[in-house]
Amino acid sequence: MRKGPAQLEPDSVQGGNMTVQIRLMLIALFAVAASGLMTTLDNLPAAEPPETPSPPDLETDLPPGPLGETIRLGREIVENTGTHPLSREYVGNALTCSSCHLDAGTDPQAATFLGSALAYPAWSPREQRVITLEDRSLNCFMRSMNGTRPPNGSRVSVAITAYITWLSQGQAMRMNPDKPLGPHSTRQLNVDPANADAKRGRQLYMDRCADCHGSDGLGSDDGPPVWGPQSYNDGAGLARIPKLTDWLKAAMPLGDPNLTTQEALDIAAFVNSHPRPKFELEKHLPPPERRGEYNAEH
Ligand code: HEC
Ligand code: HEC
Repeated sequence: MRKGPAQLEPDSVQGGNMTVQIRLMLIALFAVAASGLMTTLDNLPAAEPPETPSPPDLETDLPPGPLGETIRLGREIVENTGTHPLSREYVGNALTCSSCHLDAGTDPQAATFLGSALAYPAWSPREQRVITLEDRSLNCFMRSMNGTRPPNGSRVSVAITAYITWLSQGQAMRMNPDKPLGPHSTRQLNVDPANADAKRGRQLYMDRCADCHGSDGLGSDDGPPVWGPQSYNDGAGLARIPKLTDWLKAAMPLGDPNLTTQEALDIAAFVNSHPRPKFELEKHLPPPERRGEYNAEH
């Protein structure tokens, strides 16, 4: 049986020997080079998620008709959650979605909504279920907004979800099998709360935060409350010191986030050492007749 390489032997090749030989050598060289390249690529670390793309433009990039209007409505609700007639009954504190999802979720670093829609449906360890983007938004009402979960499919819920989905328009799906988080979620610093010094955090808070959030943490005209009855409850992501550290590092002081990781950790420990509303699931679900199926066992 004749194998491929046998064809390389000059006497088995008819006419134009040199050309054929050179061509075959080049093919062989290319094969070696290509296999080297493959090994190099295999050895590279896993690809970093792509740069956060810039957001679409609310004036020029909206789809026409009722869909575009619904997206615009969702943006208004995200920015004015506590006062908007469609959402205010579901809010239990002085925050809006934009208080943490800065610039209505278009800030690329601070709990951005850019790319969020790509990750869903996603596995949620907390709910022990696969949840949708709509579920995820509704759960933030119960915890971060210390309010009531709007019913699935309600106008407020569809509008918010439409807006967040639109922010990922045109990008490739990246469904998340590990947790309900988009590909550009707040950078995780993996701090250990045992290394926090809340006393140092107090001083830093007074110097760098109190002007806007009040030395009593209850907020001012320049910033919402960061503890007390009008703040996020103890079931919220930010109620955990490592999550708050990550977020502060990316977001605060507003407009000039410049804390070192240690400073962010110390301040997070100080802020979260204060009382805030307690989270009890039953109190945050709508009445059973409007509930549908809440996506958790507990
Ligand atoms: C007190 C702060 C806070 C408030 C207020 C808040 N959230 Fe969140 N939310 C978070 C944090 C922190 C995360 C985790 C995201 C991250 O780490 O990037 C999150 C995650 C989300 C996600 C998942 C994002 C993703 O990329 O997978 C959605 C959707 C969401 N929130 C919607 C909302 C909506 C809608 C509102 C208003 C009704 C709201 N949130 C209010 C803090 C907040
Ligand atoms: C210049 C004023 C200003 C400064 C200084 C500032 N913040 Fe904020 N902060 C804000 C505003 C305003 C928001 C809400 C964002 C929005 O609505 O756009 C906010 C949001 C927050 C939130 C999420 C919403 C809430 O109230 O729970 C936390 C937590 C927070 N800031 C903590 C801090 C900490 C800690 C510091 C100091 C390192 C700090 N901020 C410095 C103005 C400020």
